[in-house]
Parts: sequence; structure tokens; C-alpha cells
Amino acid sequence: MSNLDPNTLPRPSDSNATDWWRGATIYQIYPRSFQDSNDDGIGDLPGITQRLGYIAELGVDAIWISPFFTSPMKDFGYDVSDYCDVDPMFGTLTDFDALVAEAHDKGVKVMIDLVLSHTSDQHLWFRESAKDRTNDKADWYVWADPKPDGTPPNNWLSIFGGPAWTWCPAREQYYLHNFLKSQPDLNFHNPDVQDALLAATRFWLERGVDGFRLDTINFYFADKELRDNPALPPEKRNATIAPSVNPYNHQEHLYSKNQPENIAFLERFRALLDAYGARAAVGEVGDAQKGLEILGDYTSGDKRMQMCYAFEFLSKEPLTAQAVVDVLTRLDTHAPDGWACWAFSNHDVMRHASRWDLSPQAQRGFISMMIALRGTLCLYQGEELGLEEADVAFDDLQDPYGIEFWPEYKGRDGCRTPMVWTHSNSNGGFSEAKPWLPVAAPHLQKAAAAQERDVTSLLQHYRRALAFRKAHTALIKGAHANLNAQNDVLSLHRLHDGTEMFCAFNLSETAQTITLPTGTWEPLGDSLDCATPLPDGTLHLRPWQPCFARRTT
Ligand code: BGC
Repeated sequence: MSNLDPNTLPRPSDSNATDWWRGATIYQIYPRSFQDSNDDGIGDLPGITQRLGYIAELGVDAIWISPFFTSPMKDFGYDVSDYCDVDPMFGTLTDFDALVAEAHDKGVKVMIDLVLSHTSDQHLWFRESAKDRTNDKADWYVWADPKPDGTPPNNWLSIFGGPAWTWCPAREQYYLHNFLKSQPDLNFHNPDVQDALLAATRFWLERGVDGFRLDTINFYFADKELRDNPALPPEKRNATIAPSVNPYNHQEHLYSKNQPENIAFLERFRALLDAYGARAAVGEVGDAQKGLEILGDYTSGDKRMQMCYAFEFLSKEPLTAQAVVDVLTRLDTHAPDGWACWAFSNHDVMRHASRWDLSPQAQRGFISMMIALRGTLCLYQGEELGLEEADVAFDDLQDPYGIEFWPEYKGRDGCRTPMVWTHSNSNGGFSEAKPWLPVAAPHLQKAAAAQERDVTSLLQHYRRALAFRKAHTALIKGAHANLNAQNDVLSLHRLHDGTEMFCAFNLSETAQTITLPTGTWEPLGDSLDCATPLPDGTLHLRPWQPCFARRTT
């Protein structure tokens, strides 16, 4: 048992407030790999329900469940063939209702992952659309005639490799897919498509979900004229996968995404959410060059998205104090009234413990720093246990992205291996059957049960860190100011309702000393092993040590 009783943990003052999402902590669940309840080797909804106690005890406000809808699973659920049902491998609608009820009982909100930009090619809409050029759904996807020489209508590329166009013999036309060819892009210029997607959204609102993570929100519209994308100069090529591996990064995606018409659709979506009260959406904005500008645009005011998911801290380069200051400063410029959702790890990138080669001490340092950020936080299952990227052999690979670009890029399976709950069997308590991806042997020693018993574990540190954030409204809702990077120390102030907090983080392996801002500072955060401001106005920080202090004069 942990030393923290969930019933006594501080909860946000009003979890029914319409802005519950502001500063909240969201825990991302990749359902295939969370908990298998029926021993078929694949995680499922009842498995999540079984583990809601663990989630509530972690102290998060909400869960975001990656897609569990009916799907042929070519992209593991990000290829939906029925928006309004649960894939049998994950359970049933009744299981979903039970999950929501139990989560709400425990004070945890439920967000689901809507993939509206594209469907599976097995969706009835696409099957009909692909039949001929005259059917009812003929204009529901992005269809285009070939060039006279038979080649695709323009130069757009797919993120998962190859052209973004696939030929359909029945129509003698190409259809657009920004991802796999089995993920055709919907035509958002058609109002009927928008209406159908909003109806699917309403279906889940009626079932009581508290919000949505919206997949690839800036890909909804393609240029009506389907103009060629210009080339991106080599010095601007900056993406998760090296430009040498995937030529997608050689283009500026001026016309294949980020279209101005998207704003009106986001406003329609928001109006629907608002009709249901305290519901929130976080839009995933994939854009290596203009991510923060788009975030600013999409979250400005109160008629669009409440939050957008920022990719900045998912970078390959280790996160330095200066990099954090640069990102927050750019955010202030591009999104003065916007709201970011920060993450270090997710189901698409190498786990940050490995990506930044972090020691256990450094992993503590980063979550201590994360709780000081203005914005909403997204944790990815297993990061609280310190899981590293798993080494998945080519023969075990499932991710089509990895299979396409192996071995230069190994895909996303290394961050998707099953959670480890106990050390009792080689599957870590995830399943009695062979899991869909092997459990990484080095993960077993980090199983949740062992960390529950150890008050010095990373899991316990995550719990204390989240409880500390929740206990200080300035960290949740406050403005930030005085962003500063001095050597490897990040410092910033958070201000709310007359309270001023000073936060400093040594993001390095060496001890650092800094000068405190003038004034008197009361040390906070005992439970996080924080450094104490000294009367002579200095602060000594051990490697990776944080400091939280409140101004008294
Ligand atoms: C999701 C990916 C998915 C892609 C296509 C994303 O950004 O996070 O996992 O493959 O969208 O739907």
C-alpha cells in the first residue's frame, strides 16, 4: 500500500468547474498495453476499470484513452471503421459505460481519442465512396483525377512513407491519405462529413465522456485546389524522424494541412462541447515548424479548442533549462491567451527516460519541473515507473511505421510494450497469455507493486509531485513570469491571486548555486526533497534538485 490515501489527497476545488482542464494532469492510457482482463494478450476496457484505483491514487484529474473503437487495427485503432462502437478486442459499450461510472466515482474524468481526420478504408463511408463517382458518399473523401500521365494529382507525401495518394480502379481516381493508404482522409469541405463527425462526437458526449483528445487536428482540411507543397530548405528540416530517413520532412506542408477553413470547424466542435457543460478538448497539432503558432491560433479566445498538445518537449534533444525558457517565451509570443498541454512521452515517441538518457535522479528532476509549468500536463502510462524504451526485435514488430523505415527508424513499438504491474510472471501481471508485444525484461524490476511498497520509488515521487501541484493553485492556474536559465538551472515565478511562487530546477548532474530574487521566501515542498533558500540570498541545488518557495515579503 502507498503512504498516500486517495481520499485525503487534495482535489481541485471544483472538479465540475467548466475550466477543470486548466492546469489539470491527464494520464494517457494505450489500451492495448495497459491491462488484459480476459487473457487474450491484449489490454481492454475492463482491464482499465480494474486499475482505476491505481490511477486515482496517482492523483491525476483525467485519463485519455487512445482509440478503442471498431477498427481493422492497421494503425492500432487510429484507423476507425465505426466511430460509435467498441472493438470487440477491447470489450463492449457496456464495458465503456462501467468504466466511465467507476472513474467518475473515483473523481477521475474520462477523455477519449477521436480520430476525425481520416477513417479506416473499411469504414462503410469509404467502402461506399470508393464504389463509383456518383454514390451518396462520393464526395466524402478527398478524391482527385490523375495527371494526364497517370501520376498522382500533386506532390504530397504520406507521413508513413511514399506518396499521399492511392489509386482506386473503380473510380479511376486517386484518394488522399496523409498516413497509411488504409487511412483515407475525409473531405471536411463537405458539410455532411462535418455533421456526421459531430454526430459521432455527440454519441460519446451522451455517454458521459468529459472530453476528447483530437487526433491530428490540423490535418482536417486539405487545400481545395490541391496545390503542390513547396520544398523545405534543408536547414528548416526538423522532425521526429531524421529527414534522411523520411522524405516527408523535405516539404513545407503548406497545402496538405493547416488550412484556414479549419477554424470554422473547430468552432462548430467547441459549440457542441459547450452545449454539454464542463467538457474539454485537446487538439493534437503535428507541425515541426509552426506548432506553437498553430496552437496559439487554435486555442485563442473561448470559441475554439481549450488546449492543444505541444510537441516541443517530445524533442530528441535533451531538454535543457534554456530550451524550456525558449519554448515558454515563444508560447507567450504566439499564444498569449492560448493553453498548451505538455508531455515528455506518448505512444508515438521514444520514452523520455531513454530519449534523453536520464538517470533515476534526472527522471525525478523532470517531473518536479513539469509540475511548475503553466499548462495542462499529460503523462504517458509507465513513465511514473521510470520505464525505458523497450528493445523490440524486428520479428516482434507490429507498427507499420517501424516496419517501413527499419532499421534507421524502429517505429513506435518500443514505447507501447505492456505495463508492468507485478514481478510475479514474465508478463508483469499484464496478461496470462502471450502479450501482443513482449514485456521488456528490464521493466519487470520496475513493476508498480514493488514501487508501491517503496516510499523512495519514482512512483511515490510522481504521486507526491502531483499532490503538491494540486495543493498550490498558483501552479495550476497562475501566470508565469521571470523565465530564466542560468547555467543549467531553470527558474520561473508563478503568480495567482496575490501569491507568488519561486520555482527553480537544477537540470544537470552537477551541483549549482544561484542568487535568489530579492525578498523573503518561505520554503515549500518538503515532500519533494527541495532545496531551501538561504538567509544570505543564495540557493544551493544538488544535481536535479528542485526548489519551490513562496514570497512572504
Ligand atoms: C497518432 C498516431 C497515429 C496518427 C494517425 C497521430 O498523431 O498519435 O498514433 O498513427 O495520428 O492517426
